[in-house]
Amino acid sequence: MKPNIDLSPKALKEVAALLNTLLSDETVLYIKTLNFHWNVEGPNFSELHKFFESQYEELSSIMDSVAERARALGEKAFGGLQEFLNHTRLKESKSNLNAKAMIQDLLSDHEAIIKVLRKDLDTCDTTYHDIGTNDFLTGLMEKHEKMAWMLRSFL
Ligand SMILES: [Fe+2]
Repeated sequence: MKPNIDLSPKALKEVAALLNTLLSDETVLYIKTLNFHWNVEGPNFSELHKFFESQYEELSSIMDSVAERARALGEKAFGGLQEFLNHTRLKESKSNLNAKAMIQDLLSDHEAIIKVLRKDLDTCDTTYHDIGTNDFLTGLMEKHEKMAWMLRSFL
């Protein structure tokens, strides 16, 4: 059954599509952060190992809330790895990055997501009049801004 919440079928579909593209980015960033948690080496191993863990946990909770927001709008959430790879705007990491390059790589992905969110949250409001998703994406952007600050502080 479709939601009866004063959003047009087109708005529901297009906002959910925007959320699924975002979910693809969040999933790729989650896997990259997990990879670095496993493979980081160097004198700050212990600190970075734990730091990356706190970041992938946060990303896991973000992925869940983005997927469930798409469901709340009556659309399916992406769930296949190929689907995520086909839609993400992020790039996989090069192999054998040192700790500093890992942090730079994650930081640039968070900053890319922040820029996309700043545009998307405006689109949700002005084009689709979906103030709920506008508010949701604003909160998400703030989370990424905080995660980006923490990464930036290592550099
Ligand atoms: Fe672990």
